[in-house]
Amino acid sequence: MTAALHRILLAAAGFMPERASSVAAGVDRVFLFVFWLSAFFLALIVALTVLFVVRYRRRPSRTEPEPSPAHDSRLELFWTVVPLALVFVLFGVSTRTYLRMVEPEPGKDPLRVQVTARRWSWWFDHPGGKGAPELHVVRGRPAELVLASADVIHSLYVPDFRLKQDAVPGRFTRMVFTPVLEGPFPIVCAEYCGTDHSRMAAKVVVHPDQASFDRWAHEGVAPAASLVELGRTIFASRGCIGCHSVDGSPRVGPTFRNLWGRDERLAGGGTARVDEDYVRESILRPSAKVVDGFANVMPPVPLEERELQGVIAYIQSLKEAP
Ligand code: CUA
Repeated sequence: MTAALHRILLAAAGFMPERASSVAAGVDRVFLFVFWLSAFFLALIVALTVLFVVRYRRRPSRTEPEPSPAHDSRLELFWTVVPLALVFVLFGVSTRTYLRMVEPEPGKDPLRVQVTARRWSWWFDHPGGKGAPELHVVRGRPAELVLASADVIHSLYVPDFRLKQDAVPGRFTRMVFTPVLEGPFPIVCAEYCGTDHSRMAAKVVVHPDQASFDRWAHEGVAPAASLVELGRTIFASRGCIGCHSVDGSPRVGPTFRNLWGRDERLAGGGTARVDEDYVRESILRPSAKVVDGFANVMPPVPLEERELQGVIAYIQSLKEAP
């Protein structure tokens, strides 16, 4: 009954786009749960207010306030425990939905796309080296977006996917989803970033299958344009090669072979997972996390955003399939 009712209401208002990703249904569930919970309490409170105003209004026979109890433990407990239980339920369903947007499904090979936001455009680097002003993904295949910003905070928002993630200067952020419907869907920037913020739009193309994506990805790609090639060039030309090997042998610093995703033991205790932010930090501020067994001798290498992405892509390419 309520499901049918809310569908009619939402269709009438026309504000729910298609559910085009694996997380959309979960987001809608949380949204509708909060919506109907709020609607229920709004109706309850308004009804009680009206009832009490009418029932206890001033009358000729009643001009003084009537005596009332000062305290009732059962009532106190009731209106403490019920809201508490409700917010715990909210916390549970929201957290479960949120985790599905940031944690890749184990065992599946996601399509990794590097996203760069700048005033006022989006750029998407796809596997195989194809960069484009629009995002390309494959229906049914998990996609993992790693977002970076070249200037200020932007936010990648795909209403049909029910997904929004900030792109923050100085760090990487992540977005995980599986497209379930084909088609182009609009992408907009959802964080005010200056003059042309409202025009910072793009689209996501969902290919029906991997073959269609591959055909697109191989159209007109110059090998030198790929992030991996950029990373390889930086590795050779900016001094990395002097201290890091790519064949597994340790030199002054750890080897890059099979480095990606490893948990490194740090000098001074603790471990660090080798991911985007770790690589960024290790290049820009090498002394922040020194790997156990190696000396703290690396100088900071001031790479730009795209160069950092290149080195990351290069290190990823040196990981062998397990
Ligand atoms: Cu970019 Cu708003």
